[in-house]
Amino acid sequence: MSPKSSTRKLDPASFVVVANRLPVDRVEGPDGTADWRPSPGGLVTAFDPIMHRRRGAWVGWHGAADEELEPFEEDGMALIPVPLSSDEVTDYYEGFSNATLWPLYHDAIATPQFRREWWDAYVTVNRRFADRTAKVAAEGAVVWVQDYHLQLVPQLLRRQRPDLRIGFFLHIPFPPTELFVQLPWRHQILEGLLGADLVGFQLPGGAQNFVRLVRQRLGLETLRDRITTADGRDVLARAYPIAIDARSLNELAATEQAAERATQIRHDLGDPRVMFLGVDRLDYTKGILERIQAFGELITEGRIDPDEAVFLQLAIPSRERVDLYRQLRDDIDRLVGRVNGESKHIGRPPILYLHVSYPRIEMAAFYRAGDVMVVTPLRDGMNLVAKEYVACRMADDGALVLSEFTGAARELRQAYLVNPHDIDGLKDRLMEAMNDSPQNKGRRMRLMRRQVVDNDIFKWADTFLDDLERLTQTSQASQEAG
Ligand code: ADP
Ligand code: F6P
Repeated sequence: MSPKSSTRKLDPASFVVVANRLPVDRVEGPDGTADWRPSPGGLVTAFDPIMHRRRGAWVGWHGAADEELEPFEEDGMALIPVPLSSDEVTDYYEGFSNATLWPLYHDAIATPQFRREWWDAYVTVNRRFADRTAKVAAEGAVVWVQDYHLQLVPQLLRRQRPDLRIGFFLHIPFPPTELFVQLPWRHQILEGLLGADLVGFQLPGGAQNFVRLVRQRLGLETLRDRITTADGRDVLARAYPIAIDARSLNELAATEQAAERATQIRHDLGDPRVMFLGVDRLDYTKGILERIQAFGELITEGRIDPDEAVFLQLAIPSRERVDLYRQLRDDIDRLVGRVNGESKHIGRPPILYLHVSYPRIEMAAFYRAGDVMVVTPLRDGMNLVAKEYVACRMADDGALVLSEFTGAARELRQAYLVNPHDIDGLKDRLMEAMNDSPQNKGRRMRLMRRQVVDNDIFKWADTFLDDLERLTQTSQASQEAG
């Protein structure tokens, strides 16, 4: 990929998305030259189609440290790189974002670490993002700030640019109040978010936790989802469960190319009767060890015959310099090796585990090929993979085993829901999903497909942005009247 680099001065944008990462990462190509590749993760999957429709500017880090880049244009969108030094990558991104907030917001599955120097870097970097955004946003622009890396940006931005309409969306869970209050900088984070006019969460529970916290900890007045700030502004906190561009993915999966590739994938796996599939960023929240353990025990107990079934696990390495992620990678390697070694199966191993990043068409082919999609996070804000699988099952076949602890489980009620901590329960659910009748599978998949197609990413963005516009018009009108 080579974005058309243009250093000409970009016009101020009336729609600006601000996220830790740009949709493309700058990486070193095999010959040592600079190259670009799509950034990993659900946020980029969700915002790419929105930005292609709405255009505007995207402010974010370009994934490489100690490198200052000029803004450039890509497919009609202005990309505004924000530089990070290697110390800031360590302290702001790997430290405060991914070793403090990430575990704390995911039910403290891993122990969050609280380090003051990480917090200092978080403040510095949030300030830089706010400064960059203040420079590119046109008068009265809509600015949509994303995710846990940038929770101070709404307030910092409002101080410089009170003319802007500011929305914030949190892609990961917002934790229960008892956990959030462990954070030494809890007041600053709450106040940072309150700089937005509209604060969006994946689930109603997250929005309610936030409203409770600002009432109890900041002493602000609240009425249902409405908060009145100390300077008299109204802020709304609501749930907007994020979605995917289901139609495009469905179209991609329906192509001849995807069909042929799906057949080829199954063939390469030895044409098994049942293909189990896992697709994740390699993260300890995703429950990858739990599902491999469950599958391994089913083989050892003879409930699954490795001649008939195979488990393909795709896992893109993520945050590789954070200790827990390195350790997880080793743990999964060891467990997969043990299950395969103990299976006494000559021929292809029962579990195949790949670390490759694939283009969208290839992902669509994997989803088409998989008979049982296994999504078992211990906690996940939404999980777009579950929705992507459903979007690709045009024939209303296939089965989705889905953790109760994902945001997606609230919408995909017809999945084979499971508690991934309960390994025996998980084994039973895998068996049920594998052996259920085609009629039952068809009924479940039809209902889920309707949900995913009717509630797509464009509807999600329109709903959020319409609410933001209505809200700012009302508060403008009441300020003028007052
Ligand atoms: P998260 O945001 O935590 O990474 P999601 O499930 O919401 O999790 O989103 C993950 C996104 O990454 C999905 O759009 C999925 O298709 C994509 N993805 C996951 N694994 C791969 C892979 N091996 N190659 C390409 N894309 C992948
Ligand atoms: O919301 C989860 C998230 O942190 C997103 O911001 C991002 O899309 C994804 O996970 C990938 O994480 P990272 O940018 O740390 O590789």
